[in-house]
Amino acid sequence: MIEIEHLTKDFKEIKAVDDLTLEVPRSRTVGFLGPNGAGKTTTIKILTNLISSSKGRAMLNGVDVVTSPKKALAHVGAVVETPEFYPYLTPMETLHYLGRLRGMSPGDITRRGRDVLDEVKMTEWKGTRIGKFSKGMKQRLAIAQALLHEPEILILDEPTSGLDPRGMVEVRETIKSLKKQDYTIFMSSHLLGEVQEICDSAALINRGKLLIYDTIEHLKTVTKVAKLEVTTALDVPPQVVSAVNSMPNVRSAEAVNPRTFIVTFDGLPDQRADLLLAIQK
Ligand SMILES: Nc1ncnc2c1ncn2[C@@H]1O[C@H](COP(=O)(O)OP(=O)(O)O)[C@@H](O)[C@H]1O
Ligand SMILES: [Mg+2]
Repeated sequence: MIEIEHLTKDFKEIKAVDDLTLEVPRSRTVGFLGPNGAGKTTTIKILTNLISSSKGRAMLNGVDVVTSPKKALAHVGAVVETPEFYPYLTPMETLHYLGRLRGMSPGDITRRGRDVLDEVKMTEWKGTRIGKFSKGMKQRLAIAQALLHEPEILILDEPTSGLDPRGMVEVRETIKSLKKQDYTIFMSSHLLGEVQEICDSAALINRGKLLIYDTIEHLKTVTKVAKLEVTTALDVPPQVVSAVNSMPNVRSAEAVNPRTFIVTFDGLPDQRADLLLAIQK
């Protein structure tokens, strides 16, 4: 499982991740949902030890990523940026190449390679050169290589972004079938519908802060009318409050002081998430 505690990352004056605390339980699929620039990739890069945090810590299977990266990442497969594959290699050759780099034996790679290509539904393409593949197929191969060393945790950063609609469907189906196995999956997305379709829970993040973390089921069923108290860093101009007032499903928006206003909202929780995101813009 994944434990993130008070994680903070500053890039000079930008707080990309701001005191984020989040736990992904074993065998669950959690969506890390937020708009562009929310801090998803930064969080995932810290989790996979590609960059360091400014504050806080991240644990994978109880092992600290910063102090024991090798041990922590031994049980993790990640696709952070879609790797570029050699176009003249086949998927199986690619897995051999990458597996050898990771110190696996050829026998293990062949055996495990068949399984992972099967898991991402690429078996029929295992002998075809990657140069002929669509982006969706390459992304499935990227997932396969992340699974090669039999990790328990799979971390995917925007696995469907940049894919055409068909590629998106293929990759979503792949993740859904992995979900049925015992993997713990943490995937980022800027698409609410995608997270609802695939995940058990959603963690909504914006400006580096966690806004909501709940099961999809609960997010869908919690009480419809909600009063949201919105506190801002700067004084809110009256036109912002009136703009919020005219947003979908908002019954009223009233300023209680220059930096706080209360929104009465009767939409569904996912619409509420959209509203919170819209307000932050
Ligand atoms: N290497 C960097 N240097 C400076 N700012 C960065 C860097 N990486 C990300 N940021 C900033 O941090 C914020 C979060 O970015 P990111 O984690 O990529 O968001 P997301 O993946 O949710 O789109 C953004 O404002 C982005 O511009
Ligand atoms: Mg990103």
